[in-house]
Amino acid sequence: MVESPRPPVRVAPSILSADFARLGEDIRAIDKAGADWIHVDVMDGHFVPNLTIGPTVIRALRAYSDKPFDVHLMISPVDPYLEAFAEAGADGLTVHPEAGPHLHRTLQAIRRLGKRAGVALNPGSPVSVLDHVLEDLDLVLVMTVNPGFGGQRFIPGMIEKIARVRAMIDARDRPIALQVDGGINSDTAPLAINAGADVLVAGSAVFSGGARRYAHNIMALRAPEHEGRLAAVVP
Ligand code: DX5
Ligand code: ZN
Repeated sequence: MVESPRPPVRVAPSILSADFARLGEDIRAIDKAGADWIHVDVMDGHFVPNLTIGPTVIRALRAYSDKPFDVHLMISPVDPYLEAFAEAGADGLTVHPEAGPHLHRTLQAIRRLGKRAGVALNPGSPVSVLDHVLEDLDLVLVMTVNPGFGGQRFIPGMIEKIARVRAMIDARDRPIALQVDGGINSDTAPLAINAGADVLVAGSAVFSGGARRYAHNIMALRAPEHEGRLAAVVP
């Protein structure tokens, strides 16, 4: 069996499930517990039926971790705010294609700001929206729930979609991250990883049980990957 050339699975805890009264401390805690990226969900009460935080809060939180801030923008219109999020300290900006009329232009704008450009696909959004922008992005996010809230159930039908995006990415010679977001826990992580995901966003699964559990929770998401790698080298 040939070992996969894919990068190791990364875990990006979503701070949507953190304690909002002590967000800074919680970010420091997940950083220490082994988070690879810090996933920040920005919601506007219009594109999705919930409201969270904006650039001012992100700027304040930036000092609590050196890990990349992976900012998931669920706002529409999105273009007028890209610069503010970049200046606030985002390392990656992920947008939904429905959040503006010119996806290609939006991705170009993110790249011009020197940030990693991502496109997020809602469960009902077709993968074909990626066809003509794959050269202009660094990350594809397959939503495995409808965006807006933490703690929802993983939609099993998204497994096939993850595999289709994986095939599109593998047909390129440039690395593109394949992220999944929504209902990811130690049961669903192996399904997503086997289908080709390499960045796992998880909110409730990471933050459940309090700070003493964070390292264990993050490890539980990675474990299937470790087992997969072991299986690859141990016949
Ligand atoms: C949903 C957000 C997710 C959410 C994930 O709109 O994009 O990042 O916080 O939460 P869990 O892991 O609890 O489904
Ligand atoms: Zn998210």
